Amino acid sequence: MRDMQTAEAGFQARIDEGVKIEPKDAMPDAYRQTLVRQISQHAHSEIVGQLPEGNWIGRAPTLQRKAILLAKVQDEAGHGLYLYGAAETLGVSREALIEDLLAGKAKYSSIFNYPTLTWADIGAIGWLVDGAAIMNQIPLCRCSYGPYARAMVRICKEESFHQRQGFDLLLALARGSAAQRAMAQDALNRWWWPSLMMFGPPDEQSPHTAQSAAWKIKLVTNDGLRQKFVDQTVPQAEFLGLQVPDPALRWNEARGHYDFGPIAWEEFYQVIRGNGPCNRDRMNARRRAHADGAWVREAAQAHAAKQRARPGAAA
Ligand code: 3HC
Repeated sequence: MRDMQTAEAGFQARIDEGVKIEPKDAMPDAYRQTLVRQISQHAHSEIVGQLPEGNWIGRAPTLQRKAILLAKVQDEAGHGLYLYGAAETLGVSREALIEDLLAGKAKYSSIFNYPTLTWADIGAIGWLVDGAAIMNQIPLCRCSYGPYARAMVRICKEESFHQRQGFDLLLALARGSAAQRAMAQDALNRWWWPSLMMFGPPDEQSPHTAQSAAWKIKLVTNDGLRQKFVDQTVPQAEFLGLQVPDPALRWNEARGHYDFGPIAWEEFYQVIRGNGPCNRDRMNARRRAHADGAWVREAAQAHAAKQRARPGAAA
C-alpha cells in the first residue's frame, strides 16, 4: 500500500512539474482509465458527428459547398482515427472501444443527437459546434498525456477550417433573402443551447473535473470554457445580424464577461441517457455502417496478415 502511495506521489510530482506522460511511462490505473474514457468518447464523437452533416452532402446548394462539406466530413473521420490511435497507446483495442459504443456502453458528444433540419444547420454546426470543439480542444493540446496532446495539435488546425466554413455559410445566408436570413436565425435558435451543453455539466455537478484538473488532463473547467465560448461567439452573432436566443444575455462590464440565462440541464441529462431527438437514429446508423463495413475490415486484415507472412517481411 505504501509503495503504491509513494508511486502515485511521484507520478503527481511529475505532472506538477509539467512532464509529458508517454505510453511507456508508469502511470496510476485511474489516470489510464480516465484517458481511455475521455479519448475514446472523443473519438466516438468525431465518428458519430459525421452523421448529421453527411445528411446534407447530397443536398448542398452548390458544387463548392458540397466540396467543402465533403472535405470537412472526411476530416472528422481522420480525427476519429487519430483519437482511436491515441487511445490504443493506453493498451486498449479500437475494436473493444467501438464495441462499447455500439453496445451503448460508451458516450459520444450530446450535440450530435440533434437533427439537421435545414442547410443553415450545417453552417451552425461548423460555426458553433466546431467553434465549441476548438475552445475545448486548444487546452487539450497542452494536456499531460503526450499522444493526446499531439493528436490535438493537428486536429485543432483542421477544426479552424471547419469553424470558418460554417461561419462563412451563415454569412452568405445572413446577407441573402429574408427567407435565408430566417433560416439562419432558426438554426441559431435550435443549436445555441445544445452547443453550450457540449462543454459538460456545471462544474459543481461534474464528477471528473477535480481529478482531471489535478492530472492536467482538464486545464480549464467546463464552466470556464463555456464562458469563453459565449464571450467569443456573441459578437460573431451580432456581426451576422442574428439574435442569440437568450433574453437574459447581456454584457457585464464589472465581470468583463457576458451574463447568460439558465441552461436546461435536465435536457442535457436526458440526451446523454440516450433520450435525445436522434440518439436511436445515430446508433442504428453506426451499427448498420459497422456491419456493412465488416468485409472491408476483414479484407484489410487478411491483406495485412498475408504481407506479414511473406518471407523476409518485417516482424
Ligand atoms: N456529451 C456527452 N457526455 C458528456 C458531455 C457531452 N457534451 N459532457 C459531459 N459528458 C459526460 C462525461 O463523459 C461524463 O460521463 P462518463 O463518466 O460516463 O464519461 C459525465 O458527463 C460527467 O461529465 P464531466 O464533465 O465530469 O466529464 P469530463 O471531465 O470527461 O468532461 C468533457 C467532459 C468536457 C466532454 C471532456 O470529456 C472532454 O473534454 N472531452 C474531450 C473533448 C470532446 O470529447 N469533445 C466532444 C466533441 S468532439 C467534436 O465536437 C468533433 C468536432 O469535429 C465537431
